[in-house]
Amino acid sequence: MKLVHISDIHLTVPGERMGGLDPHRRFAQALQEVRLRHQDADRIIVTGDLTHWGEPQAYATLKEALVDLPCPVRLLMGNHDDRASFLSAFPDQPRDENGYVNYAEDLDGTRLIYLDTTAPRTHAGHFGADRIVWLDAQLQGCTHARLFMHHNVMTLGQPAEDKIALVEADRPAFAALLKRHAAKIEYLHFGHIHAICTGTYCGIPFASVRSTGNQSLPDFTETELLHGGPMAPSFAIIEASEDMTVIYDIPFTWDGPVFSSGTGWEDWAKPVAAE
Ligand SMILES: [Fe+2]
Repeated sequence: MKLVHISDIHLTVPGERMGGLDPHRRFAQALQEVRLRHQDADRIIVTGDLTHWGEPQAYATLKEALVDLPCPVRLLMGNHDDRASFLSAFPDQPRDENGYVNYAEDLDGTRLIYLDTTAPRTHAGHFGADRIVWLDAQLQGCTHARLFMHHNVMTLGQPAEDKIALVEADRPAFAALLKRHAAKIEYLHFGHIHAICTGTYCGIPFASVRSTGNQSLPDFTETELLHGGPMAPSFAIIEASEDMTVIYDIPFTWDGPVFSSGTGWEDWAKPVAAE
């Protein structure tokens, strides 16, 4: 299956900028890249921070933006989202029996599990006992799974950023659950940190993606402030099967000519007019 992983689009009320840029334009550019080059995608998954201030108008604009796409879109909650406003704009959104935006679907033999790791008025992640029970049941009912979520459920070596990871109190139960089901969980995919970070946790590989807006500047000593800048945004293309995952970082705001090569591979002689 081919999955498009987009994150942290931070939409505003149209006309309002976010971090010095227009988040709507950026999201539109990302979707246009998907339309142009990834018509074969099976899902577009946006892992939270759908909006920056959680306003109904921002969610309404999100809904309007999701047109003429090649495949279904899956939306997740982030710390900047407002669950009630989101559900007002997307009333058919599946959720679990406790009202969290936790849901899952089976595709090509793999259960794609979309997690709601948020709690009101906190930037840190939350995934308490009730959500653990739901996720455990989802994992028990499948043989292959892939988890998508907003927050990193582990610390990542950045003291300030780690303060808004999954809260420390919820980490042990989440880690224990991952270890119980590690053999069937192919990957953890998340956003939140506005940077690409890859590794393994509890024996499971993980990967985050950049924001479509501003990027963070990883800082391994700062304990309070998050630093960021206007580095180029990107999203990820995930080519996934039961025994392999390939992730490509896809920039989408560049401009300029596309160079092609391949018909003249025996090009060992330097052209006279070489640049
Ligand atoms: Fe974000």
